[in-house]
Amino acid sequence: MQSSEPILVTSPLLPNMQEFNQYLQQIWDSRWLTNNGSMHQKLEHALTKYLGVEYISLFTNGTLPLITALQALGLTKGEVITTPYSFVATTHSIWWNGLTPVFVDIDPVTGNLDPSKIESAITTNTVAIMPVHVYGQPCNNEQIDSIAKKHNLKVIYDAAHAFGVRKDGESILNWGDISTLSFHATKVYGTIEGGALICHSAEMKYQIDNLKNFGFRGETTIVAPGINGKMDEVRAAFGLLNLKQVDAAIEARHKVSTQYRQAIDKIDGLHYLSEYPNIRYNYGYFPIFVDEEKYGMSRDALYEKLKAHNIFGRRYFYPLISTLNPYKDYPSANSNNLPIATKMANQVLCLPMHHMLSNDDVEKIINSLTDN
Ligand SMILES: Cc1ncc(COP(=O)(O)O)c(C=O)c1O
Repeated sequence: MQSSEPILVTSPLLPNMQEFNQYLQQIWDSRWLTNNGSMHQKLEHALTKYLGVEYISLFTNGTLPLITALQALGLTKGEVITTPYSFVATTHSIWWNGLTPVFVDIDPVTGNLDPSKIESAITTNTVAIMPVHVYGQPCNNEQIDSIAKKHNLKVIYDAAHAFGVRKDGESILNWGDISTLSFHATKVYGTIEGGALICHSAEMKYQIDNLKNFGFRGETTIVAPGINGKMDEVRAAFGLLNLKQVDAAIEARHKVSTQYRQAIDKIDGLHYLSEYPNIRYNYGYFPIFVDEEKYGMSRDALYEKLKAHNIFGRRYFYPLISTLNPYKDYPSANSNNLPIATKMANQVLCLPMHHMLSNDDVEKIINSLTDN
């Protein structure tokens, strides 16, 4: 039986249109569309306050800050240890810098890079670790940082999923040398396309702001072969307005997450990731893992069944990055090296999760999980 409206995996956070029109009018009046305009400056300031970070640089998307982070840290050759259980942009950013990704397996409890497996992957060529806070679940930064310190490695956290996530009241975006965010429309907080880089000193921010503007320092000096990663005024205005409603959106997602958890607790063969009381989550995703034998249906069969009910989940993160054409021949991509990631990728299905889901929607989704 098809429900009338399709239930999609995500829905963008949209500003109030009247308020957006007022901001557009201001942009029109100023005739200043990009290059560190006033909306851009206001959003950077507002985000440092909201996120609890000191230095942030806005970008056109969440991929360019990853690429720029490696550039800013001067990493031009060598190996970067990373997780295969992420969106392709994580590994692509390593490749785009001429560096070699080295895949390390993940922890089954969090889905994040397993720190106990990092050291055996370190060689004399290793220059950095690029973990991902997958689904916004914080990595084990204490262990990762101590390994990095011991081996003199840089740490760049891909925090694309971790907008607003805090541990013990502190922003996890302050971890490592650099953290990056994505503000893509599918994320908890969005600027249509957009992203940001968080660093820890005014000098580093200055360097990054140069790098995202072709390497310009002043009008005529180019300090490095930078890129064009600048966020424009219209997206910054969109972001300013979305910041006012992101907490309400997170709270609506929290409610959905609680409903899902209560229902899935009663279903044999499905499980979800644990939550920890000292973490402030953003509820960006709701991944479930399907044990085919106990549930009586494979992940793919469930995915198709939900589609037949007009419910569109997504298999994030399947296939594993290490199985994709550009990376499958790297020695570390061998599935024997990545048993946990391989299993999770084959079992995962992200259920619809966004601030617009109604109680009826959630009920329909839960009923579709149980009416085998
Ligand atoms: C983990 C991760 N890293 C990086 C990105 C890239 O972000 P963007 O799509 O904004 O370029 C994404 C995007 O979805 C992501 O999920």
